[in-house]
Amino acid sequence: MISIRNLTKEFSGQKVLDSLDLDIQKGEVVALVGASGAGKSTFLRSLNYLEEADSGTIDIDGIKVNFESITTEEILTLRRKLAMVFQQFNLFERRTALGNVKEGLKVVKKLSDEEATQIAKEELAKVGLSDRENHYPRHLSGGQKQRVALARALAMKPDVLLLDEPTSALDPELVGEVEKSIADAAKSGQTMILVSHDMSFVAQVADKILFLEKGKILEQGTPEQIINHPQEARTKEFFASYKKSYL
Ligand SMILES: Nc1ncnc2c1ncn2[C@@H]1O[C@H](COP(=O)(O)OP(=O)(O)O)[C@@H](O)[C@H]1O
Ligand SMILES: [Mg+2]
Repeated sequence: MISIRNLTKEFSGQKVLDSLDLDIQKGEVVALVGASGAGKSTFLRSLNYLEEADSGTIDIDGIKVNFESITTEEILTLRRKLAMVFQQFNLFERRTALGNVKEGLKVVKKLSDEEATQIAKEELAKVGLSDRENHYPRHLSGGQKQRVALARALAMKPDVLLLDEPTSALDPELVGEVEKSIADAAKSGQTMILVSHDMSFVAQVADKILFLEKGKILEQGTPEQIINHPQEARTKEFFASYKKSYL
């Protein structure tokens, strides 16, 4: 359903994404793991052109985009098809929770206020925030803000949801509520690429884990294969030190 081929990106001569290939099936949850600096964020950001990849192609449901010759129209198409949730919530501070979720529906999808309100309310209900619709971000907890950000992304009915360390900025006691909402979206069939360091969560939701190292996929497989039986020396080392620090 989604094919990424030869995705390459350099920052001042350093290859941060090195001819990456990835196929994702509809409904699949792919987790991207790897050390800090491996290229995980650059990968996600390149897919919806928040970073300008040097070369490579993405094919989503038959719509093929070549990053080398991408047009403004294609950038808008990618951003409609790929919604992103960032580590730092990125909500509009001057809009309520409902206003935040409605924004893209009105501006990008050009829905009427009535239609946008209806969808936004449904999405906020799904993440358990019906009672916070009229709250401004400053009156929400970090976990609630991130659930608004998730509702806002899901409201756009993206082909793929991109999640870049969605719980890393949260106090530990708020991680669970956000992970539950992500898991619910996964269960409902939302295709996603998830960057996370929370391996128990990754093991719970991911169909496939990709281990990224210096902009290349060094190893991939099921959570059981990658977390418990890694093959490559570097992957073994990563999970051994991970288990020492967190388990
Ligand atoms: N805007 C930028 N300018 C220069 N170098 C960058 C920029 N963004 C990321 N990098 C570099 O690219 C590499 C990969 O970064 P990143 O994708 O953020 O890794 P990760 O998300 O896996 O921690 C790092 O070496 C980082 O310093
Ligand atoms: Mg990152």
